[in-house]
Amino acid sequence: MLASGTGSLFQALLDAQDSSFTVVGLVTDQPEAQAIGRAAIAGINIAVLQLSDFETRDAWNRALSDAIDYFTPDLVVSAGFMRVVNADVVSRFAGRLINTHPALLPAFPGAHAVRDALAAGVSTTGSTVHFIDAGVDTGEVIAQRSVEILNSDDEDTLHERIKVVERELLVQVVKDFAQKKAVAQ
Ligand code: GRF
Repeated sequence: MLASGTGSLFQALLDAQDSSFTVVGLVTDQPEAQAIGRAAIAGINIAVLQLSDFETRDAWNRALSDAIDYFTPDLVVSAGFMRVVNADVVSRFAGRLINTHPALLPAFPGAHAVRDALAAGVSTTGSTVHFIDAGVDTGEVIAQRSVEILNSDDEDTLHERIKVVERELLVQVVKDFAQKKAVAQ
């Protein structure tokens, strides 16, 4: 798992672990990420790779790839990981590197998807799980679910409702991936 912040999506995956999948590690770029505490409580190994500790962005990307490889994951899940990875990382984990985004892509890519949806005045937004490619939120869509925008919504209330849906959708996608892998073996 890759996460930078609160880690509630990470927690949803921790809570959903069953015979079909387990979370093998957390990689974060933020030493203060709440996800770290969640991983520690769950006994999950953690790698902290702070961008400022590396001389170049490429060096950070290489360390990120190595940290992911160390955990030998079948699937790499970016959930609230607020860094764009480079093309080398994308190709190294091609087909098993996914991200969750709080909008119905291709609408509202980028770091302010919830704010942008509100500003655009649309009545519906939602959540997308997609493969990560070399662009920002441009990879192939795996699953989407919509969320209605209420007149009373501000960025926080809307994002919280989207995150409820994101957690369910992400768990479903991970379980589907695990099931397909099991069938293929
Ligand atoms: C999610 O909405 C995710 O899509 C976005 O950041 C949020 C992460 O939430 N990129 P949390 O840190 O897992 O609570």
